[in-house]
Order: sequence, then C-alpha cells, then structure tokens
Amino acid sequence: MKILLLGKNGQVGWELQRSLAPLGELIALGSDSRDLCGNLGDAEGLAATVRAVAPDVIVNAGAYTAVDKAESEAAACRAVNAAGPAVLAREAARLGALLVHYSTDYVFDGSGTAPWQEDAPTGPLNVYGQTKLEGEQAIAASGCRHLIFRTSWVYAARGANFAKTMLRLAGERERLSVVDDQVGAPTAAELIADTTAHAVRATLRRPELGGIYHLAAAGATSWHGYAQFVIEQARRAGMIIKVAPEAILAVGSDAFPTPAARPRNSRLATDKLQAAFDLVLPPWQTGVARMLTEFFEK
Ligand SMILES: NC(=O)c1ccc[n+]([C@@H]2O[C@H](COP(=O)([O-])OP(=O)(O)OC[C@H]3O[C@@H](n4cnc5c(N)ncnc54)[C@H](OP(=O)(O)O)[C@@H]3O)[C@@H](O)[C@H]2O)c1
Repeated sequence: MKILLLGKNGQVGWELQRSLAPLGELIALGSDSRDLCGNLGDAEGLAATVRAVAPDVIVNAGAYTAVDKAESEAAACRAVNAAGPAVLAREAARLGALLVHYSTDYVFDGSGTAPWQEDAPTGPLNVYGQTKLEGEQAIAASGCRHLIFRTSWVYAARGANFAKTMLRLAGERERLSVVDDQVGAPTAAELIADTTAHAVRATLRRPELGGIYHLAAAGATSWHGYAQFVIEQARRAGMIIKVAPEAILAVGSDAFPTPAARPRNSRLATDKLQAAFDLVLPPWQTGVARMLTEFFEK
C-alpha cells in the first residue's frame, strides 16, 4: 500500500510519519519538498504530485494554522485550508484513494457548554475556522472516500507548546494570568496519529466507516486549568517554580485581546469515533503528563 502524507513537519505530521510507517510505503512531503510538490497552496503542483505518486491513501496534516495572522491573510489561509484540500479530494476521487484530513473545533461558534456532535450546526468565529469548514465541505462534496477528524488544542512533545510556555513563565514570574473562559481538551499529536493509523486500516477494510469524526482526548479543562495541572506536575518533578498555586490567576478572554475571536466551548463529543473504531480515548491529563515526563527527563 502507498500512502502520501502532506504537512510532514507539523505537530501531527511528524507523529504520522511514525504511526503510518508500518502500514505501507510512506511518501512524506512538507511545503518546501523539492522532488515532488507538497505545497497545498499550489493547486497544479499538488495535483501533479498525486497523479505521479498514485497513492492508495492521502493523509493531509498540512494547514495554515496561524489563527490570528489569518484575519489579515484570508486569501493565503483559504488557499491552504480550503483550495488545497479540494484539489486533494478531486484527485482522490479520480484515483479511488482514501483521503484523510484534519479539521477543528473552530468550525463551531463556541456557544453553550455541551460537547459538540459531528452534525451540530457550524458557525466559525474567525477566518481560520471558516476556511477549515470550507475545506471539510469541499471534501464531502467531491464524493471521494474520506475520513475527516475534527480535533482541538493540539500539542506535541517536539517544538514549542502551551505547556512549555507556562513552565518557562512559572519559573520566571511570581504571578501568572491565564484565560479560564475557553474550555476544551488538550490533545496529543501522537494520540491523533495513532488513532489515524488505526482508523485508516479499519476504513480500508470497511469503507462504510468513512465520514467525519471528532477526535480529542477525554475530559475538558480551561487554559487556566491546563496551566495549573502543568505547573503542579513540574513542582512535583522538582523543577524550580516561582509562582505559588494561588498566584495562577484565572482571567477572561478579554484580558488578552487577539485579532481572531476564539470559541468559548471547544468540547467535542467523541462517542461516534470510539464506537465506530472500537477505541478508548484517554483523559487529557494522561497525554500531558507523558509529554511533561519526556520534557523533565531532558
Ligand atoms: N494546533 C491545534 O491546536 C489544532 C487544533 C484543531 C485542529 N488542528 C488541525 O490539525 C491539523 C494539524 O495541525 P498541527 O497542530 O499539526 O499544525 P502545525 O504544527 O501548525 O503544522 C502545520 C503544518 O502545515 C504545514 N503547512 C503550512 N502551509 C502549508 C502549505 N502551503 N503547504 C503544505 N503544508 C503547509 C506547515 O509546514 P511548513 O511550516 O513547512 O510550512 C506545518 O508543518 C491541521 O489541519 C489543523 O488545522 C490543529
């Protein structure tokens, strides 16, 4: 089996290079790959790549993810998040390939407190969310076999992430203010990648499993709760922490104005995915604690 992976250097793309490797021959491309075009913003180059590789499975982990910058770069964001996936979908339909794609809780307006089901009405609050929704819609309309995973609050051990930023600040400052009115589930890129590999195998055997799924760790917290958890783990691991637990202050989103509005409720209901693929998604704390252990041991 041949698998074409796009966006190989992102958080999820990097983990997919590991989790997809045992499934078959993996051709992994980044936006600047030379021999084959891996640029989602280059429609012609992208189509030529798919035709040249003729994969059985296309996995698109690439995206324009700079949420605030997208507000002033809507065309560039749309080219990558909507037009690129539309090309992949068209070419996948032509080949009969399975297309795997990732989307986001940002397709929802963040109202209420209930976890969003896959068929809940969408209502993106920002350009990034709107373009990700358009990408989903293009894939569904193409008629190609597909898996779309909407995920949330992605982090990875590699590179910068919210947890590492909080640890640095907690070592430098005596007071920290963290947003507590946005709620979601921090989700490890490795959990997304491992679940993807499992779902791809299952869907190749049972095509009726194709469709859209919510994929996030279990439970929910605010950014403030997430920061408290991370800092407490660091304290227990013996790291030097300046901020006292009571000096981690909970503040509203309006304390940190950003160009793009964020949804308050990013909870995703994952029952559909767990039932379809016979999987259990672990609590968000499990993955965060694991990532921190790797970080502390460095
Ligand atoms: N991060 C989150 O919290 C989050 C939440 C919900 C959903 N998601 C979705 O999950 C998926 C994976 O996200 P992630 O967190 O792994 O993102 P990420 O770490 O920001 O990586 C995105 C990747 O996309 C690539 N990319 C950007 N422009 C591209 C282009 N024109 N052509 C090809 N590749 C391009 C980047 O490569 P270069 O740097 O080489 O350009 C980068 O490797 C995305 O679909 C994202 O929308 C993410």
